Amino acid sequence: MNRALALLALAGFTSVGLAQQPAGKPDPAKGQDVASKTCVACHGQDGNSQVPENPKLAGQVAEYLAKQLANYKANDERKNPVMFGMVTPLSDEDIRNVSAYYATQKSMQGVARSRDTLAAGRTLYRGGNVARALPACAGCHGATGEGVPSQFPRVAGQHAQYLEVQLKAFRSGERANDGAAMMRSIAARLTDAEIRALSDYIAGLR
Ligand code: HEC
Ligand code: HEC
Repeated sequence: MNRALALLALAGFTSVGLAQQPAGKPDPAKGQDVASKTCVACHGQDGNSQVPENPKLAGQVAEYLAKQLANYKANDERKNPVMFGMVTPLSDEDIRNVSAYYATQKSMQGVARSRDTLAAGRTLYRGGNVARALPACAGCHGATGEGVPSQFPRVAGQHAQYLEVQLKAFRSGERANDGAAMMRSIAARLTDAEIRALSDYIAGLR
């Protein structure tokens, strides 16, 4: 290897090293502090919000929560005036701590609203639709909606109303924080009736 190449390799190595420098272990106890002071009114003490517009955070993948909070703070790809106000005073450390706290709480089971749409929701969730090139939701979010830590969020038991709003926001492009437009490209092909059926089915998953 010539000297220039060696330097280049070294530069690459150190920049990767810096990017991956561990920022210290998150502290769920400190996170609970933030949660009970600031978040409790809307998301519930343990993250099991009782209000259908406010998402449940209990048992959610920690990395996903932290990413959403960073996205709200940047006020760019995922905008919400309420959450923007909530995250603005939080440090990166607060964000990691509060995410770790909610991730360790137990998610309470949700309920499906309508028996009529359950079958349609289940079919689409589990199998997708090959003819329309719609992948199965289960392929990424898991057969029971439990999510895949660090990659795909938990959806099981989430409020149907909240799910519906998010799927429509992906569809319109108003929410654009999904890497590689994974959710936008899927939601773009869903009808209102399908979004409703899926949201209802997912709300009842446990
Ligand atoms: C006044 C009510 C309110 C308060 C207080 C509040 N939130 Fe929220 N939160 C919301 C609403 C409403 C949404 C959904 C916004 C949207 O549509 O993107 C939300 C969304 C979220 C999401 C995204 C969840 C997901 O599944 O993508 C996270 C994470 C979150 N809040 C964390 C927090 C934390 C942490 C705090 C405290 C520091 C907090 N929230 C305080 C109302 C609130
Ligand atoms: C290729 C993988 C993939 C597939 C298939 C997929 N999703 Fe997602 N989904 C994601 C990713 C990644 C995110 C998180 C994006 C982000 O970082 O905000 C997400 C986020 C979501 C959210 C937002 C969760 C929240 O708490 O706000 C909902 C709802 C959702 N997906 C529903 C579905 C449904 C319904 C289907 C099937 C029609 C589906 N997804 C198929 C990857 C996928």
